[in-house]
Amino acid sequence: MTTVLPDPMRLPTERGCPFSPPAEYTVLQTERPWSRLRLPGGRTGWLITRYDDVRALLADRRFTPPMVQVTPNAELPLPEEELPVPDGLFSALDPPEQSRYRRLVSRYFTRKRTRELQPLIERITDEQLTGMIEAGQPGDLNAWFAQPIPARVVTGMLGIPAADQPDYQRWVLASLSLDTSLDALREAKDGLYEGLGELVRHKKSHPGDDIVSELLHGSVGESPLTHAEVVNISILLLIAGLETTANMLGLGAFALLEHPGQLARLRADESLFDSAIEELLRYLTIVQFGLTRTAREDCEVAGRRITEGEIIVASLAAANRDPAVYDDPNHLDLARDQSTAPHMAFGHGVHQCLGAQLARIEMKIAFGALLRRLPKLRLAVPADRVATGTDKVFYGVHELPVSWEH
Ligand code: HEM
Repeated sequence: MTTVLPDPMRLPTERGCPFSPPAEYTVLQTERPWSRLRLPGGRTGWLITRYDDVRALLADRRFTPPMVQVTPNAELPLPEEELPVPDGLFSALDPPEQSRYRRLVSRYFTRKRTRELQPLIERITDEQLTGMIEAGQPGDLNAWFAQPIPARVVTGMLGIPAADQPDYQRWVLASLSLDTSLDALREAKDGLYEGLGELVRHKKSHPGDDIVSELLHGSVGESPLTHAEVVNISILLLIAGLETTANMLGLGAFALLEHPGQLARLRADESLFDSAIEELLRYLTIVQFGLTRTAREDCEVAGRRITEGEIIVASLAAANRDPAVYDDPNHLDLARDQSTAPHMAFGHGVHQCLGAQLARIEMKIAFGALLRRLPKLRLAVPADRVATGTDKVFYGVHELPVSWEH
């Protein structure tokens, strides 16, 4: 039976299974791999869903990432209303400007620097799990484990005082939620800019062992950055590094509990951890609305004329389930070999995730400790009562009530 989808269509959001992207993507992949997309505000763009098309677009330098990504209700500015990219916000810049900032910041995310963070991540994970166990059952794994671990790691790396970490966690969450009221959004934005502005001023005279101090004092051998650049880079790291990993930890734990056979395999063989994490990234693809790109010039892509300013949304979630690339793509297989077709949960091309190694280590440590400390972990509510969110930029759980035996 063929399903007839509107043309142009809106970005699909309704999920049948909490772990799988909306069913429309499967239809599009076979029947309409380049689909006209109705954008918020009445404009029309494209939605692409096949692995090869998504990969090619993300590597295509004729396209640029706009400041506002397409979500079901984003307020997209018209091309002539586009504001200049704030200094330092390199996720929305093209090379060579993007490369200069990325080079400066990437030294905090190398394999070596990330390995050095391991004891800190282990300590934070341990404290969070101990806190949950001591608070008693049932515990909310999202509130005790998934949210605070990445929040404490990233705020700590930036030199944000521990006492302020919950505020930053709240502001980032509000900025990424699609139904935040305008007042709450303004409060979150002000909180981030004022808080980080204050921090950057303080670090100028009281440097510490953190990213903000290093960027300010040019201890990395290049000319120091301006106040605005350091503030914007810090905001980028918070927004990009906090809710992403948090959702992978929360949704990942939910997926493992709902796939007991796979979970038992992982408990029995810790050598599966690396492939398990790559498979969870592929299977869950929390960047649920894909990546937006705008054409910098009139051009031709896959035989189509694209005009300057036209928007294409590349669905990472669909690409990572493309049956032309993955055998049995809707099956979670923690031992899956992705060496010939690496997932694109971290994107692809010059903007590919800078924090991927850090996210991987956080997941490895956090899931490892969770399985070791709570061998009899289980959901404390029926799975269909676990609320997941298509109401935020990154897909994940809102709460994950669990219980355990000692
Ligand atoms: C599992 C967790 C994560 C996922 C799924 C994820 C996903 C992504 C994706 C898809 C992109 C590409 C955006 C684009 O091409 O437009 C990206 C970029 C980025 N990510 Fe991550 N990310 C994660 C964790 C982190 C962490 C922990 C950090 C750092 C603290 C981080 C920092 C960044 C930065 C700075 C960029 C922009 C890179 C650039 O434009 O050059 N991410 N991430």
